[in-house]
Amino acid sequence: MILSIESSCDDSAIAITEISSCRLLFHKKISQELQHSVYGGVVPELAARLHAEALPKILEECAPYFKDLKAVAVTSTPGLAVTLVEGVTMAKAISVALGIPLIGVNHLVGHIYSLFIEKPTQFPLTVLLVSGGHTQVMEVKSLTNIQTVAKSMDDSFGESFDKVAKMMGLGYPGGPLIQELAKNGERKKHNFTIPLQGKHSSLLAFSYSGLKNAVRLAVEKAPKQEHKDIAASFEHIATEHLIHKLKKYFQKTTPKTFAIVGGASANLYLRSQIEALLKSYGAELLLSELKYCSDNAAMIGRVAVEMYHEEMFTSLKELDISPKSSL
Ligand code: KG4
Ligand code: ZN
Repeated sequence: MILSIESSCDDSAIAITEISSCRLLFHKKISQELQHSVYGGVVPELAARLHAEALPKILEECAPYFKDLKAVAVTSTPGLAVTLVEGVTMAKAISVALGIPLIGVNHLVGHIYSLFIEKPTQFPLTVLLVSGGHTQVMEVKSLTNIQTVAKSMDDSFGESFDKVAKMMGLGYPGGPLIQELAKNGERKKHNFTIPLQGKHSSLLAFSYSGLKNAVRLAVEKAPKQEHKDIAASFEHIATEHLIHKLKKYFQKTTPKTFAIVGGASANLYLRSQIEALLKSYGAELLLSELKYCSDNAAMIGRVAVEMYHEEMFTSLKELDISPKSSL
């Protein structure tokens, strides 16, 4: 079995995965959303302190599995430096105490493998990752052959939902709150500009900072009862931007199988629009189970099983955190 730890942002999670079958034997996550909600976003130092409390509590529950562990895996990149350290330090301690190898996992690869929890992998695959930290399209051929073909130049898709929710005084995380508010709003009420059109239309990249600022102006002018229309129009344009750029990408490369992963892949409007787009290209859509869209340790454990088979271990000295991703 492999014990895996996730602490890259505001979720403390530990999983136990059986190596031979990829079966998830244990998974527990303690989310810090409530504690960060009052600040309208994640406060890194507070998150680190909460991980230091939560991770040892979850680890205690894993004690019955200790004798069967063959490796310990941990998210080491990308993420918040002060929170990554919490998980990595714990993983190193377990590695020394039990005399088992360490596996450093890239969180973004973890999101890709959230598609394959308790399932065999299915490659090649084109993946759209939409989370709080990232918006990128990746061509995935295998564990070690992952090519990023488009990414955001500024804010991420999920982050823009968080910021719009903060402007409206709704709390954190913004994605589910904006989705809920948008349900009763008019999507065409506010004609926000779709990012990176016109002279930038050939650019295969994403940008959400301009849209965020346009929404800020609308929020400042509108009474509270009209926020639902702003939320609906924002959700529509934020999604249209993804659809436009995916169409651009599909002109050159049309994938047979396409997946959406990451916390924001839970967004129902985004799911429905991408589903419709893929239908017109005859491509298959893969999605993670809703409970594995947002950050979790099960996805880290699933990658770790593959890395274990490939003997991709890192020594105690070499394993270090890296806040920025190399993907
Ligand atoms: O993958 P994740 O849990 O953490 C990161 O790796 O960043 O993603 C969290 C992000 C947050 O920005 C949150 O607002 C967004 O995912 N999110 C959503 C929805 N549910 C979560 N965004 C839009 N619509 C949703 N339903
Ligand atoms: Zn994530």
